[in-house]
Amino acid sequence: MDPEPPVTFKDLGVIDSLCQACKSLKWKAPTKIQKEAIPIALKGNDIIGLAETGSGKTAAFALPILQALLDTPQRYFALILTPTRELAFQISEQFEALGAGIGVKCVVIVGGMDMMSQAIMLAKKPHIIIATPGRLVDHLENTKGFNLKALKFLVMDEADRILNMDFETEVDKILKVIPRERRTMLFSATMTKKVQKLQRASLKDPVKVEVSTKYQTVDQLQQYYIFIPVKFKDVYLVHLLNEMAGNSFMVFCSTCANTMRVALMLRNLGLGAIPLNGQMSQNKRLAALTKFKAKTRSILISTDVASRGLDIPHVDVVINLDIPTHSKDYIHRVGRTARAGRSGIAITFVTQYDVELYQRIEQLIGKKLPLYKTEEEEVMCLQERVTDAQRMARIGLKDLDDKKSGKKKRKSTALDDDLDDGTGIRKRIKYQKKNKKFKKR
Ligand SMILES: Nc1ncnc2c1ncn2[C@@H]1O[C@H](COP(=O)(O)OP(=O)(O)OP(=O)(O)O)[C@@H](O)[C@H]1O
Ligand SMILES: [Mg+2]
Repeated sequence: MDPEPPVTFKDLGVIDSLCQACKSLKWKAPTKIQKEAIPIALKGNDIIGLAETGSGKTAAFALPILQALLDTPQRYFALILTPTRELAFQISEQFEALGAGIGVKCVVIVGGMDMMSQAIMLAKKPHIIIATPGRLVDHLENTKGFNLKALKFLVMDEADRILNMDFETEVDKILKVIPRERRTMLFSATMTKKVQKLQRASLKDPVKVEVSTKYQTVDQLQQYYIFIPVKFKDVYLVHLLNEMAGNSFMVFCSTCANTMRVALMLRNLGLGAIPLNGQMSQNKRLAALTKFKAKTRSILISTDVASRGLDIPHVDVVINLDIPTHSKDYIHRVGRTARAGRSGIAITFVTQYDVELYQRIEQLIGKKLPLYKTEEEEVMCLQERVTDAQRMARIGLKDLDDKKSGKKKRKSTALDDDLDDGTGIRKRIKYQKKNKKFKKR
């Protein structure tokens, strides 16, 4: 029997100019989630889309929106909500790439950037707004002449995160000022099953499109764990980075302070590491990501601010230096590698304190992971150098902190370039403790 002919974007009902855009991105055929979601979205249904990381969910909502926009062009046509600023920029790039031929205008509205220039961009009447919830609410409340009363599409990308408590106030405010007569799409690799939460998005007879069964990690991803005492985390990290030198790494930490410390420590060993965390200025955050994307730096040390949605195809290895406290974050973190059919490796550090959290992760993904094999003797050869680098990192952090608080004047060094803004962390953490409303990942 002949194999079934491959399905094309055209078969799904996508118009020629958009098919052309897919072709110019070298997409030969639609992915599974695109095959299932696009025809339903083109029919006009609301969608809850669940598919594994790196499976092309962005285009699954972007293509139908662009097609509808072409039908009835108008300003403020669609709003895409995302949990992080970097992801907002990335989604905007994808809309622009797909919509280049039809002249789509997008604007990114995220925190950490100048409100006034955003207000000017909004006044230019873009078709698509990609926003983080907090800053969008700021504009809805303070920018004259801006409202979303004519909005036709609402997308929540990483919907389970957007519908999470952290964004509750902002999302409620947004939902109150957009029309009820609209189309709504929710997408994520881990969707909340809680009906109550989903009801907040006020979907109308949504069609559930679930490509993955339960919360799956990608098949081409090789996942391992390493079981070590907490005091040896750094030395094992350095060992792995040495052993797999030549690859691109994303290393996840649980706090902003740890990303800074680890980045400095690795720099002291001559490794090209760069931190990314929510305490850095937005310019520094974008610069860090740009350097990592351009392969100027091969090791990105980040908090969960980089765990969702970011699409950096050349990431080969994800290392969970600190185990994620929410097991779902594990799926997103390791999903930064092995995207769009590529292969990748994920290694999770499990210490004496992490066993329970680790078991929860294994339960969630329904898999027992193999141990990553290391020769203890070989690793421990590095101990002395790592201890030195740790000590220098402590001094470096204190120096940067002092510089921030104006205690000490000193010449800036090359390191300051990337590390500057992440200091003063301790001060800010103290502030966070005092003021619980101040939340940042
Ligand atoms: N039909 C296609 N053929 C080939 N590549 C594609 C196709 N659709 C999307 N891609 C590419 O696949 C990569 C992953 O897509 P995308 O970022 O949309 O994944 P995702 O499902 O949103 O993942 P995550 O859950 O991590 O957010 C991107 O580089 C995108 O350009
Ligand atoms: Mg995505």
